[in-house]
Amino acid sequence: MFSKSLIEKFQTIETPFYYYDLDILKRTIAALKAESEKHNFHIHYALKANTNQQILKIICDAGFGADCVSGNEVKAALKNNFNPSSIVFAGVGKTDKEIIESLTADIFCFNCESMEEIKVINELAASLHKKARIALRINPNVNANTHHYITTGLEENKFGINFWELEAVMEVIKNSPSIQLIGLHFHIGSQICDLEPFRLLCTRINEIQQWFSSRNITIIHLNVGGGLGVDYHEPDKNAIPDFKSYFNVFHKFLEIKKQQQVHFELGRSIVAQCGALISKVLFVKKGKKTDFIILDAGMTELIRPALYQSYHKIENLTAAFRSQQDYSKQMEHSEHQVGDPVLNIAETKYDVVGPICESSDCFAKALLLPTTVRGHLFALRTTGAYGQVMSLEYNLREKAKTVYS
Ligand code: LLP
Repeated sequence: MFSKSLIEKFQTIETPFYYYDLDILKRTIAALKAESEKHNFHIHYALKANTNQQILKIICDAGFGADCVSGNEVKAALKNNFNPSSIVFAGVGKTDKEIIESLTADIFCFNCESMEEIKVINELAASLHKKARIALRINPNVNANTHHYITTGLEENKFGINFWELEAVMEVIKNSPSIQLIGLHFHIGSQICDLEPFRLLCTRINEIQQWFSSRNITIIHLNVGGGLGVDYHEPDKNAIPDFKSYFNVFHKFLEIKKQQQVHFELGRSIVAQCGALISKVLFVKKGKKTDFIILDAGMTELIRPALYQSYHKIENLTAAFRSQQDYSKQMEHSEHQVGDPVLNIAETKYDVVGPICESSDCFAKALLLPTTVRGHLFALRTTGAYGQVMSLEYNLREKAKTVYS
């Protein structure tokens, strides 16, 4: 991801900043498009993962729709040229204002999560003389085997309507003249790398579909959500997720009826690998067991490690760059062959932390890294999804800037 000239460019830019490699993004989108088109699957980009304008533009130009979870995300999608007829609006707590604005914009569909929400959308649509298209978000009770904070498809989670409520929900819809039921929606969680939970989801959707067809209720759209995981450990080797295997699961196990359209809401798998948080070492401080590398980026720029104990690959770019230079020099004056191992670099164990006044402001513990000094540049990899969008102004921190390749 980082060439010599790019690292030299980084040295001239104020840190911390988010760097986006738009070439990786475009290659990811091309792979996603090719694989989804094979099955005629519809992709809606989950804006919550990253709402950066350049990224939105590239995704919109690729012809994908948008998956939004707030009125402002709907507005961002519209502003960045996503077609209203490709916008879905999900979320357990939509405000009246958000519903009215989305009805006025004539978005494709509201993913509804409770009986009360359906009643409110019906009333608001009636007051605007509109008919609201809705999909029922059904809680499939499938375990995604991911971090419990990003598991959404279990009955104990706040999301969706439970199967045992369906009879009552259909009664409400029958009595809601300003509602048109067009689809079913599911989402079991995020950062799912083992495809088995998706197979279980398909099986569950097939059962749920039977409930509807036995009552002669036609469902045109099946929205199976997002959740495909990325490789946080090997971002260079596996820069592009295995969309082929992922879509094959749905192709193979989901019973798709004639005229039915299948929709996906992918976020992380599209944008995670194109982003890196670039930060400079402020100080290196002696500790009892390990020394501390104190970066100028912290949990305010990247909260995932503090919130989910998540792993992001951490690289000392300056040391990697120097070792490359030393190696090239050594090659000039010695009998070493190309392909010899790179010069041995001294390594030390460090805790890599940020400057925020919280002990949770820690990116990694006892990590073996090249010997580091003040001023070295660091990269926190795979931060294109749920990185910049989740940043905070806590401690009155300035918002990190954005740099593109
Ligand atoms: N659809 C729904 C209804 C969702 O709730 C989500 C993510 C997605 C689609 C997109 O899922 P993806 O393809 O990105 O996995 N902040 C957490 C992730 C929260 C995900 C919330 N919902 C993190 O940093 O891991």
